[in-house]
Amino acid sequence: MNKVFIVANLKSYKNEQEGKAWLEEFTKHKEELDRYGDREVIIAPPFTLLPSFASAFSGTKVMLASQNLSPFDEGAYTGEVNAKQVKDFANYVIIGHSERRNYFKESEEMLYEKTYQAIKYGLTPIFCVQAEQTIVPEGVRIIAYEPTFAIGSGHPDTPESANTVAQGFMEKNKNYCVLYGGSVNETNVRSFLAEGKIKGVLVGSESLNPQQFVQIIQNAL
Ligand code: PGA
Repeated sequence: MNKVFIVANLKSYKNEQEGKAWLEEFTKHKEELDRYGDREVIIAPPFTLLPSFASAFSGTKVMLASQNLSPFDEGAYTGEVNAKQVKDFANYVIIGHSERRNYFKESEEMLYEKTYQAIKYGLTPIFCVQAEQTIVPEGVRIIAYEPTFAIGSGHPDTPESANTVAQGFMEKNKNYCVLYGGSVNETNVRSFLAEGKIKGVLVGSESLNPQQFVQIIQNAL
């Protein structure tokens, strides 16, 4: 895992038309993005856009993630999208985002089940932690440290503090790859990665505009 991860989390934004416009704008930068072989670009659109994004990025280096996953295998679970279904379109899945924990009351046990399902079907979890004390299920390799105060607030954690948290996780497991998320933008992205322990970023608000997201990818290193 030597590449730097740059992940866009489009959250619950963009209908089909808006998703198409996002893709059109983003893919205008395809040639310059192809030059950045040292960056693993991952986009997490809403479920409804996964199929169209998957066909748009087929044969390219851009990877896709889902933002959520059923804690169950396939079966009679109305309204859920399971890992086997996601795997048709994506290689990664975001698990344990604070918005899921807070608004949807996702418990540690549920996050464990989601992680289990992801790994069972070959999806790589990007497991969000809110602090150094957050419990990480077994099998997780990529962690995104996202302090709640920094999400969508315009007030990121300091690079030094994020780096210390990353170091703390790596002392628990040297194989962890720790990303930072929370008010990352084109101006501050490099400062997080420059600290040494942070191996990527998870970007919310600033990824909604594809040009800004491209700028973040460019400025990362
Ligand atoms: P933000 O969101 O970039 O808008 O702070 C990050 C996230 O929630 O993953």
